[in-house]
Amino acid sequence: MYIGVDYYPEHWPEERWSTDARLMQEAGFNVVRLGEFDWVNMEPEDGVFTFAKWDRALAALAERGLSAILCTPTAVMPAWVAHKHPETLALQKDGTRLTWGVRKNNCFSSGTYRFLSQRITRAMAEHFADTPNVIGWQTDNEFGNPFCYCASCRADFQHWLRRKYETLDELNRAWGTHFWGHRIQSWEEITIPDDATSHNPSACLDWQRHFSWMNVRFQHEQVEILRAGCPRHFITHNFMGLFPELDYYDLAKDLDVVSWDNYPVWGAPEVRYDSSMAADLMRGLLARNFWIMEQTAGPGGWGAYGRNPRPGELRNVCYQQLAHGADAQVWFRWRTCTAGREQYWHGLLGHDGRALRRYQEAAQTAGEYRTLEKALAGTTVKADVAILYDYDSLWAVRIQPGYGGNDYTTAVRRFYRALFRAGVNVDLIPPTADFSLYKAVFAPDLCVLPDALAEHLAAYVKRGGVLLSDCRTGVKDATGLCHERTLPGLLAPVFGIEIQEYDAVPGNVTHAISGRAPIAGSFNATLSTDWVIPGTAEVLASYQDWHLQAYAAVTRNRCGDGWGYYVGTVAKEDAFYDAVVAAVLASAAVQALVTPPAGVEVSRRQGPKADLLFLINHTEEPKAVTVPAGKTELLSGKKTRRELLLERFGVAVIQL
Ligand code: GAL
Ligand code: ZN
Repeated sequence: MYIGVDYYPEHWPEERWSTDARLMQEAGFNVVRLGEFDWVNMEPEDGVFTFAKWDRALAALAERGLSAILCTPTAVMPAWVAHKHPETLALQKDGTRLTWGVRKNNCFSSGTYRFLSQRITRAMAEHFADTPNVIGWQTDNEFGNPFCYCASCRADFQHWLRRKYETLDELNRAWGTHFWGHRIQSWEEITIPDDATSHNPSACLDWQRHFSWMNVRFQHEQVEILRAGCPRHFITHNFMGLFPELDYYDLAKDLDVVSWDNYPVWGAPEVRYDSSMAADLMRGLLARNFWIMEQTAGPGGWGAYGRNPRPGELRNVCYQQLAHGADAQVWFRWRTCTAGREQYWHGLLGHDGRALRRYQEAAQTAGEYRTLEKALAGTTVKADVAILYDYDSLWAVRIQPGYGGNDYTTAVRRFYRALFRAGVNVDLIPPTADFSLYKAVFAPDLCVLPDALAEHLAAYVKRGGVLLSDCRTGVKDATGLCHERTLPGLLAPVFGIEIQEYDAVPGNVTHAISGRAPIAGSFNATLSTDWVIPGTAEVLASYQDWHLQAYAAVTRNRCGDGWGYYVGTVAKEDAFYDAVVAAVLASAAVQALVTPPAGVEVSRRQGPKADLLFLINHTEEPKAVTVPAGKTELLSGKKTRRELLLERFGVAVIQL
């Protein structure tokens, strides 16, 4: 198992390197990630490469048994690149170029920048291919910025559209350019839709896809060079969890392993739902375990710093990821830098370079991971429940939310959090996934529903699957045109309902809902109501207000061997989602092994030889959990009784 830190030897005198390497080894670390911002020192002048310093740094690390992941350094262009080739700097909407500095300054279609990126990648690949402790590569750093509005990006967009649509007739149809007289008569006429609140939504959706694709292409050009030059090394990229600008499924396709950067410690301690959801998405990108490439090591911030992780909390953050399928653990960063914008972004060591509390906690965690290593081998998260996570819908909703306050990721969160509280494992999956692997699929806010996807979902339900959808499902097709159908369109037989009208509800207005078994209770609807007319569906919740009394808030329908659940509104209460999720899980015959108390997270990793139950206390109070008795808790070595006590921020790993 790889455990270590992000290390910046270029920030410290060479005399310090051996001390750092020794302290890393003493902490039980065996890997470092390096080099992502040091292009200027590897190529100080156009086409002149010097790697001697990096050879010495790698050798100092090797002496302490530390393996290295090198990065292509293209996230920060050297000043000479910007100076000599100003067209490589991204052009902003106002027509001015980004000022060189900070990082991520480049235009992704610039031929010059792509050439320079490939050249430094090739030089590094050739130089480090046989360096004994180099094991892999990270492409660039956190792809996703900046957007660029230059002539080259515009031409690139035009070419991309031409390849996608082939004919102008098809482009005009797909974008619906008969509206507002927007018919395009030659590819060169196409502009960049630079305001997603007023341009044609179909054009905006394609522009977002094109930006994503440009990043993927940029990475691909580096990957091809690394694969040819360093066939023994693996390739990864450090993703950003729920970051919304790129189609992460696409970015992952070229990689051997997905890794991601997790920074959840900010305000008051709270249940870290989003870190779990992000982990489940990161595992879903390639449908396998992932790495943590940057993990919170202390207070972070570029100006003001955030909260210092409490004793036990750094370890807790790590276990949450381990429980969700992390196979490697790398902290960001080793030592807090004394210079630059990240002076207050703290590492395991402070400015003083001493191995103190945070270092000790990381070392303790590393030691524990070693004892778990054997049990963990070959295990991953097995889930009976999936949430469909779809970037097209995410983007389409962002471009045109429909009802105010509609946000795709927030919609997914409502159901994710209820599943988390229910204590069941969840996979986040792409729309192309095989749904038959799951007993239940949640597809919230699925605005973009191409016919083929609707047919797959319907077939899944007919064969016994349980599907849940909610407000405004399937309004649009793949190019962002509204379907010419009464909702829920092709899913009507699945849900047994018809939606002739719908209503946006201001966030400060609510409509009372009353539910009956299995979702008995009183709740409040807000933001949106689909005026759901039940057909074959059973009504599980209805509205009280006079104008909504004819309509259902929640329905359930038998379809073939499966069930279709439809939630026609957004409820204010968590309890509503807990009840709906419990009903779906019951229909799908999914049962949690452990029902956690509030603030405790449960996750399970299974493999051919092991079945591990993780319990994570996200609170500052001790928590008692009812668990299977007579099993071994691997961190203490003790046998479990029915009640297991987790200390504040405590964790347990039970071998089932
Ligand atoms: C990450 C980035 C690191 C560092 C860190 C703290 O997003 O990859 O290089 O900047 O944030 O700001
Ligand atoms: Zn550009």
